[in-house]
Amino acid sequence: MKVLGIAGSLRVGSLNRSLLRAAQELTPPGMEITVFDLAPIPLYNADVEAKGDPEPVTALKAAIRQADALLFVTPEYNFGVPGVLKNAVDWASRPPRDSALKGKPAAIMGATLGTGGTGRAQMQLRQAFVFTQTHALVSPEVLVARAQDKFDASGRLTDEPTRKSVGKLLEALADWAPRFKPKA
Ligand SMILES: Cc1cc2nc3c(=O)[nH]c(=O)nc-3n(C[C@H](O)[C@H](O)[C@H](O)COP(=O)(O)O)c2cc1C
Repeated sequence: MKVLGIAGSLRVGSLNRSLLRAAQELTPPGMEITVFDLAPIPLYNADVEAKGDPEPVTALKAAIRQADALLFVTPEYNFGVPGVLKNAVDWASRPPRDSALKGKPAAIMGATLGTGGTGRAQMQLRQAFVFTQTHALVSPEVLVARAQDKFDASGRLTDEPTRKSVGKLLEALADWAPRFKPKA
């Protein structure tokens, strides 16, 4: 199973990018996670879109289409989805009738410094996925609160309960995703 991982933070030391790297280590047999870097994605602009997708957007849509499932790793900014990630979802959702996100199975997780563990950001992402018809896995949730205490200085996820939760989420995604295979 090919999973495309997308983290909603651009910074090098991002806890969410680190969480995504941990997921790459914790995959169940048969699953491979590749990471798409959102740094080159421009801000959504319908005038730009009308002239044709910029190359990084074309690459994003192609990577989503080629994946069997998606793994979104979201920070939480002001109780919501950071613009970087929402912007990527907005590009990928176009055109709505034939969007790369339509019908895709997806899992969500996230890490914050605070105690909420991205619960509110994840709910916002789920809300957007109702419109995009992206099949977001409901359970288990992976809310990594106080994340600064759960990674070492090199960005490795060291907290064992969190490693177990990530593994369980990926197992659930492996079970969930085949239910939405496009008809041959
Ligand atoms: C603009 C902004 C808003 C933030 N809002 C929240 C928030 O609502 N809840 C929270 O727990 N942390 C919040 N934080 C702190 C983030 O959890 C923290 O910066 C985290 O490390 C971001 O993820 P990253 O490490 O993947 O970049 C905010 C940070 C920024 C820059």
